[in-house]
Amino acid sequence: MPKQLIANRLKNAMGLHTPTVGMITISSAIDRRMRALQLDDCAQYLVNLDNDPGEMQKLIEAVIIPETWFFRDAIAYKKLLEYLRTRQSAVYKSQLRILSIPCSTGEEPYSIAMLLADNGFEVGTYRIDAVDISEKLIQKAKLGSYGKHSFRAEDLSFVDRHFTRYEDKFMLSDAVKAQVNFHHANLLDADFLPGYDIYDVIFCRNLLIYFDGPTQARVFSVLARLLKNDGILILGHAETSQRSAGLFETASNLGPYINRKASKTPAIPRASDKAGPISNKNAALADKQVPAELPESGLDSPLEKAFALANEGRVEEAIELGLACVQHDRFSSRAHYLLGLLYDISADTSKADDYLKKALYLDPNNIEALIHLSLMAEQRGDSDDSERLRNRAERVQNRNRLS
Ligand SMILES: C[S@@+](CC[C@H](N)C(=O)[O-])C[C@H]1O[C@@H](n2cnc3c(N)ncnc32)[C@H](O)[C@@H]1O
Repeated sequence: MPKQLIANRLKNAMGLHTPTVGMITISSAIDRRMRALQLDDCAQYLVNLDNDPGEMQKLIEAVIIPETWFFRDAIAYKKLLEYLRTRQSAVYKSQLRILSIPCSTGEEPYSIAMLLADNGFEVGTYRIDAVDISEKLIQKAKLGSYGKHSFRAEDLSFVDRHFTRYEDKFMLSDAVKAQVNFHHANLLDADFLPGYDIYDVIFCRNLLIYFDGPTQARVFSVLARLLKNDGILILGHAETSQRSAGLFETASNLGPYINRKASKTPAIPRASDKAGPISNKNAALADKQVPAELPESGLDSPLEKAFALANEGRVEEAIELGLACVQHDRFSSRAHYLLGLLYDISADTSKADDYLKKALYLDPNNIEALIHLSLMAEQRGDSDDSERLRNRAERVQNRNRLS
């Protein structure tokens, strides 16, 4: 019971939704904090939490999921470039402002900085701000030293251009580091980044998936305040702006997880506004969109194209390309994962199950495949299997956090 009360405190402080994140993750964070304080009574820890103003931050540090890597979901960066090029002349008139929230250990904002540097954007014509609730992650980001776990993109050609290797680490160049301003802040705080219409582009990826509907609505109202009217909001590939209470709409010419402020913006919802629960599962993929033109770019690969097609709702074409990818590289866990998603959307659950299991066989740490299999198990009413898979995903996440 005290653990549930602590989970409620965490939700109020940072938005974390227990059923989504899993009580095991929250419980093991509480256990770590109790060990650090040499407490064996959870009720006593709750008293500490309520009386020590610094303890909540320490609990937050213990519970956060910092999973990130350079050029994660390469298509998002391609879309960013596509958008910036359409307004390059405007960019040079006023400084382009980009926000990465949450930035975790910095791989996302530094990827943006490398992308701009590699594509001829002059220093001084843009400013990149990066924010995260974790002080520790922000400190790590400022150091700019990364292990191999941060390099999971298919195209790693940026490494030679921007990193120096020392021992088993890679050190980011000072030139790239200088382009990102890091801040420690909680997006749900009432005084979070005061001001209006500041940013041309906001990256807010892989945060909403941990929040329930009302908390997502709060996040969208903050982002709507900070984004310029003609700016874009880039979400993660499993996230949509459906819970934005009409503040955002999909930018159909750019792809479903790229959003713009709605043309007729309704009143910004209050934090207390109620919204029902949302299942993020496949929401972005299921959205049928007008296909976007994909420009030539170094970030292109058949698999990323297949993801892009899937995100544009072109399911059959995505399956065709995904199958070609699997034929070309039968050991690609990510390609099998994509086919699993696509067959699930096409209501072929048996094939979906096969491909997702194969994705896991090829990479037992494929968290996305684990989570999707868990959701499918939940849908067919097999809650034991669903929980087993979710716990496995959590263990992988915890291991990643420690490595
Ligand atoms: C999975 S990472 C996402 C990083 C990056 N955007 C990406 O997609 O690779 C989630 C991050 O959200 C941060 N976070 C969680 N709640 C937050 C909040 N209320 N305000 C700011 N950051 C938050 C965590 O500290 C963690 O670093």
